[in-house]
Amino acid sequence: MTAPESSRPPSGATALRTHLCGTLGPDDVGARVTVCGWVAKRREHGEHLAFLDLRDHTGVVQCVVPGTVDVRSEYVLAVTGEVRRRPEGTVNPDLPTGDVELGDCAVEVLNPAEPPPFVVDDRVEVDEVVRLRHRYVDLRRPRMQANLRLRAGVNRALRAAMDRQGFVEVETPLLWAPTPEGAREFTVPSRLHPGAAYVLPQSPQLAKQLLMVAGLDRYYQFARCLRDEDLRADRQFEFTQLDLEASFVDQDDVLAVVAEAVLDAAEAATGERPGPVPRLTWAEALDRYGTDKPDLRFGMELCELGAVFARTGFRAFAAPCVKGIVVGEGASLTRSRLDVLTERAQALGAKGLAWFRVTGGEGGPGLESPVAKFLSDEEQTGLLQATGAGPGDLVLVVADEHRLACTVLGALRTELGGRPVSEGPYRFLWVVDFPLFDGVDDQGHPVAAHHPFTMPHPDDLDLLESDPAAVRSRAYDLVLNGWELGSGSVRVHRADIQRRIFTALGIAEDEAASRFGFLLGAFRYGAPPHAGFAVGIDRLVAIFAGEDSIREVIAFPKTQSGWDPMTDAPKPLAPGALADLGLKPLPRRD
Ligand code: AMO
Ligand code: AMP
Repeated sequence: MTAPESSRPPSGATALRTHLCGTLGPDDVGARVTVCGWVAKRREHGEHLAFLDLRDHTGVVQCVVPGTVDVRSEYVLAVTGEVRRRPEGTVNPDLPTGDVELGDCAVEVLNPAEPPPFVVDDRVEVDEVVRLRHRYVDLRRPRMQANLRLRAGVNRALRAAMDRQGFVEVETPLLWAPTPEGAREFTVPSRLHPGAAYVLPQSPQLAKQLLMVAGLDRYYQFARCLRDEDLRADRQFEFTQLDLEASFVDQDDVLAVVAEAVLDAAEAATGERPGPVPRLTWAEALDRYGTDKPDLRFGMELCELGAVFARTGFRAFAAPCVKGIVVGEGASLTRSRLDVLTERAQALGAKGLAWFRVTGGEGGPGLESPVAKFLSDEEQTGLLQATGAGPGDLVLVVADEHRLACTVLGALRTELGGRPVSEGPYRFLWVVDFPLFDGVDDQGHPVAAHHPFTMPHPDDLDLLESDPAAVRSRAYDLVLNGWELGSGSVRVHRADIQRRIFTALGIAEDEAASRFGFLLGAFRYGAPPHAGFAVGIDRLVAIFAGEDSIREVIAFPKTQSGWDPMTDAPKPLAPGALADLGLKPLPRRD
C-alpha cells in the first residue's frame, strides 16, 4: 500500500538530490544540499557571480554560482551548495524560500533544453492552442501543478470514503457495446471482425447493473467515460466519473453515500466541510429557480404573479402562468441592455419580456415601463407587493405556459445574478423526483429523461400509460454552484415495470432484445433492487481549483473542436490501416 504523502520524508531525497527546491528555509541553514530542477531564471553579476532560480514542483530556490555558468532557461540541473541566509536587503518576502539561498554552488547540467515556447509563469497569458501543443511545459506552471495535485487529493479522499463505506472497486471494459444514455458514441472498428465495431462506453451504466446481479453488493470505479458530443467549458469527449452502484438500497442510502464522499473531497480540497446538502424536488427547483440546477449562492427567486393578474385586461399577461424576478438595483440598466434581455427571452421561446423600473416618489414607489399603462392600479400595487421590489430595482415578467415562463426567467436570473462557477462559497444541492420522461420524439413517444432503466416514482406508477408526462422518477442530481455535478437513479429491477417503460418509450420487444438483451437476460437470473450514481470528477475538481473550465484540471485535454494540438489527433488513417479494419472512407461531405 502506498504511504500517505505526509508520512514520506519531507526532504524528497532520492539518489540524485537531497532536498526539494521549494522546501528550503532557515532551519536548513548550514546544510550542504543537492537540489534538482529546471532553470526558472538566470542573472549574471559581472564575470564572477551568477544567480540561478531553480524550480521543481515544490517551488523555486535561488542558487549563487561563482564564475559564469553556461545554462539557459529550462535546462535541467543538479545544483549542490550550502544553505545560507540571504544577505541583508536581499530577502525576498514574496518567495517561500526568500530568506535563504544556496551559496557557493556547483552546477551539473543533467540535460540542456531548447528555449521554451513560452515563459513558465502563471502571470503570463498564453494562447490555449500553444499551451496544449506544449502541455508538458504548460504543466510546469505552479497553477497547473497545483490543479493536478488537487485532483489527486480529491481522488484520494473519494477513494477513501468509498472504501470506508464498503464499496468494492471493479474495472469494467472500455471496448463494449452501445449504452442507452443519449450522447453520440465513439466507435472502434474491429480488425478481427471486419465491418463490426466496439463502442466506447458513455458510462459503465449497464456493466455496473450487471455487477449488482452478480452479487457485488457495492461497486465503485474511477471510470473513464467517452461521449462524442459538442465540447464546452464543462464538457470533454473523455472525462472521469466516480461511478457507483449498490444493492438492497433506496434513494436515501445512495444520497448519503455520495454526500459523504463529496463532502470529504470538499474538505480535503478546501480545508472546510460544507454543511448538510439541502434537497429540492425537480418541480420546486423549476418553480423557484427556473432550472434543474439552481445556483444557490444568490437569491433572486422567481415570484408567482398569477393571482395578481388573474383577471387582467392586458392580453400579454392573460396566460396560464405569470412569473417575475427582481433585479436588485436593476432600474439603472439601459434601454439597449433591456432590449438585449428581451431578445434573449424571445430566443428562449418567450413571446415577450415585460420590464418594470421601480421608481421612488412622494406618493410611494411607482412603475416605469412601456406596459405600465395597460395595468390597473391594483395590478401595479399587487406586482410591487408580490415581488417585494423597491425603488431602484427592476422587475422582469414573463407570462406563458408554466415550464416556459420558469425556464426563461431562470436563464435571465443566472445571466443577471450569476457568478463564475468556481467562486466560493460552495453550495451543494440535491434535486430529486425528476420526471421520468422529458419531451417526445418525432414519433410522439416520450423520451427517457435519464435512461430507460430508471424506476418510476412508486406513487406515479398508475400514470405510466395514461399520463406519461406526469410520471416522476426515482432519479436525482447533485448540483454545485449551478453546475450539474452528478446524476443517478433507483433502477428498474422488475421485468414487468421494465416492459411497461419500453412500451411507453415505443421500444419494441425485439428492439429491446437486440439493444440490451444481455441486461434483460441477466435480470431473469435474480436481479436485486439496486440504485446508483455518478459524480463528474473533472467538474468537481475544477470548481475546487477555482477554474471555470474543466480543461484546466485535465492533464491532456482536447480543444473546443476536439483536437489535440500536441499529438495532432485525430489523424487520417493510412490506407493500409483502413483495409485492415475492413473500412473504406467516403468522400468528405464538407
Ligand atoms: P450522466 O450522464 O448524468 O449520468 O453523467 C454523470 C456526470 O458525469 C459528468 N459528465 C461530464 N463531464 C465532463 N464532460 C462530459 N462530456 C460529461 N458528461 C457527463 C457530469 C454528470 O453529472 N450512468 C449515469 C449515472 C447513473 O445513473 O448512475 C450517467 O452517466 O458531472
Ligand atoms: P404585445 O402586446 O405583444 O405588443 O406586447 C406588449 C409588451 O408586452 C411588449 O413589451 C412585450 O415584450 C411584452 N410581452 C408580450 N408578451 C409577453 C409575455 N408573454 N410575457 C411577458 N411580456 C410580454
